[in-house]
Amino acid sequence: MNQKKVIIDTDPGIDDALALMMAIASDYLDINVISAVFGNIDVDVALENIKRIFEVCKVKNMPVIAKGAEVSLSGQIYKPRLVHGVDGLGNVKFDVTHNYKDVNANDALKKCLVGENIDLLITLGPLTNIATLLIEEPAVKDRIKEMVIMGGSVFTSGNATEEAEFNFYQDPEAAKVVLNSKIPIKLISLDATRQLLFKSEIFKKLDFNDGELSVFIKNMLDFGLNYHKKYRNRDGIYLPDVLALCAVLDEDLFSYRDLSLDVDIDKERGKVFDNLDAANTIRFCDKVDVDGIINLFVNTINKLLTKRS
Ligand code: RIB
Ligand code: CA
Repeated sequence: MNQKKVIIDTDPGIDDALALMMAIASDYLDINVISAVFGNIDVDVALENIKRIFEVCKVKNMPVIAKGAEVSLSGQIYKPRLVHGVDGLGNVKFDVTHNYKDVNANDALKKCLVGENIDLLITLGPLTNIATLLIEEPAVKDRIKEMVIMGGSVFTSGNATEEAEFNFYQDPEAAKVVLNSKIPIKLISLDATRQLLFKSEIFKKLDFNDGELSVFIKNMLDFGLNYHKKYRNRDGIYLPDVLALCAVLDEDLFSYRDLSLDVDIDKERGKVFDNLDAANTIRFCDKVDVDGIINLFVNTINKLLTKRS
C-alpha cells in the first residue's frame, strides 16, 4: 500500500496516546504534522504529551509538533473530569529529553497545506484548530482529500452532557464549521465507539516486557481500567480515538451510511442532529467489526512493543 500523507490533531488523553502509537507503528502513514489542541487537558500539557509519546516510541524522524488552541472559538473551556489523570496520560512518569522549537499549529498547518495536498486529516480532539484554519484560509479545504473525525453522537447519548459528545461539546461552533466545510468526512462518533468496550482480557494479549514503552502503556491502561471500575463501575475502557485510527488503518472494519448532519450551537450545545437542509454529506459510521478492531489494535501495539521497546 502507498504511504498516506497525514496530519493528526489531538488532545492526548490515554485513547489519543494509543491511537498515536498505532499511527507510529504503521508503515502506512507518513505523519507530517501533529497539532496539539486543548480538550482532555490544557494545550500545553497536550503538547508535552505528544512529545512524550513520540520519544517513548523512539521515533527518529520527528514530525512537526505544534501548539494549537488553548480555548474554543467562543473562548470557553469545559474542564473534564480526571478520566485521563492529572497529566492526561494516567500520571505516567516519563520526561522528554529532546529540545523542541516552539511551533504554532496554525502556521504549521498552513505551511503543510500551502500548494500541497494531504491524503488524511485525522482529528482526535475538539475541532478548534481545524475550524480556525478553514475560517482564515477557506481554500485549504480543497487540499485535504479526506478527514476522519472522532466526535459527536448522533443516535446515542452524549458523554459530556446527555446530548453532546466531549470533543463537539468543547467547541460546537468549530464542529459546525468543519462538518459544513465540504471536506469529505468519515465521522467516527460515539454511535460507533460504544460498540467496543476494551476489557482487561484484551490487554493480556499485549506482549509487554520490562522496557519503558511497556511500562508507559501498562501505566495508562491500569489507570484507565481502575478509574472506570471505581467511578463508572465498568469492567473495561472505551478507546474512541483508537477506533478512529483503526478506521484509517483498515477501512474494511467499518461500515458507513451518508447523512446530512449539523451541530447545535445554541440550546443543546454540541448535539449532532440529522438535518436534510444541511448542505453536507457526512459518511457516518454505523457499524464496526469488533473482533477485527481488537486484532488490529493488539497486533499493531505488539509490533511497536517488539520494535521500539
Ligand atoms: O468523547 C471521546 C473523545 O473525547 C476522545 O477523543 C477522548 O480523547 C476525548 O478527547
Ligand atoms: Ca481525544
